[in-house]
Amino acid sequence: MRILGIETSCDETSAAVVRDGHVISNIISSQLVHSLYGGVVPELASRAHQRLIVQVVQAALERAGTDRSGIDAVAATYGPGLAGALLVGLNFAKALAFGLGVPFVGVNHMEGHLYSNFLGEQGPRYPFLSLIVSGGHTMLVHVEAPFRHRLLGQTRDDAAGEAFDKVAKMLGLGYPGGPAIDRLAKEGNASAVPFPRSFLEPGSLDFSFSGIKTSVLYYLRDRGVQPGGSAAGALTTTETADICASFQQAVVDVLVGKTMTAAGRCHVRDITLAGGVSANSALRSALQAAAGEQGIRFFSPRMEFCMDNGAMIAYVGWMRRAAGAASPMDLPAIPNLELA
Ligand code: KG4
Ligand code: ZN
Repeated sequence: MRILGIETSCDETSAAVVRDGHVISNIISSQLVHSLYGGVVPELASRAHQRLIVQVVQAALERAGTDRSGIDAVAATYGPGLAGALLVGLNFAKALAFGLGVPFVGVNHMEGHLYSNFLGEQGPRYPFLSLIVSGGHTMLVHVEAPFRHRLLGQTRDDAAGEAFDKVAKMLGLGYPGGPAIDRLAKEGNASAVPFPRSFLEPGSLDFSFSGIKTSVLYYLRDRGVQPGGSAAGALTTTETADICASFQQAVVDVLVGKTMTAAGRCHVRDITLAGGVSANSALRSALQAAAGEQGIRFFSPRMEFCMDNGAMIAYVGWMRRAAGAASPMDLPAIPNLELA
């Protein structure tokens, strides 16, 4: 069974083909236009998706060595995400499925991230615990069986990736900021600045990252640095690297601490990391080490499956089709879709 998966929820236009659970192509076109504005501009994202969707789908089919007639179902993200951006991929997928006379499957973007550790790898065993960290979400999910999820905690304000992006913006490091902070932090001292770790009430598995973001803002102001664009010039490279390393360490401490608390409560043997921030080298190694100390196996996605990608959508589409499911053609885009 060959599934074409389409992902357009934010600023990546992506399409992939999964055959019987194996990824045979995955094309990702990242929209560079947003870097000019320091964040994703929704209307520009929709327009770029429209411009790119045909060629990205075409390239995914070609790379998979097939054409439209070799596709058995079309899957697309229907939420969460930007309304206009979602509509482009969703409507394209519905029209293609209708034209080919094959089933259409709507996929929850967060389920895509949740199962991304099964792509091209020997995945975890159920039940497992997953920490999903992206630009829009930060959540701890107990996955008891396929599509049987329990949300244990989530962010009450900023997502982890959003905090990375906002701090990077204050430091004049461009957008998206996560990769830049990750890179610079390697040169910095993680104990240079004691940024706060917000653990919320004792025992809570929720997250909060707006406080640390504000702490970075005040730290820069106290040093006479005007945050936002000009900071880069006002700080030495070492100072910037120290701020990056200290900020990143504070975020990683909270993410790892809460994940290990949740793992202890759920008695899981496997932990997975997913979402754009799962590309972060410090987070990967800290979680790997903490899990190892408890005899828990740790999984993180291959780099191309950390960021938004069509393969994870095609994979979940394949799981759904394998269970006989299909979606109605009037399935709407749901920008604030929750993980069921
Ligand atoms: O999953 P994703 O591609 O899109 C959403 O669904 O949000 O995640 C994008 C987020 C951005 O905030 C980006 O800065 C962050 O992932 N990110 C990173 C790294 N690479 C991407 N954050 C920290 N370290 C990285 N290496
Ligand atoms: Zn995502």
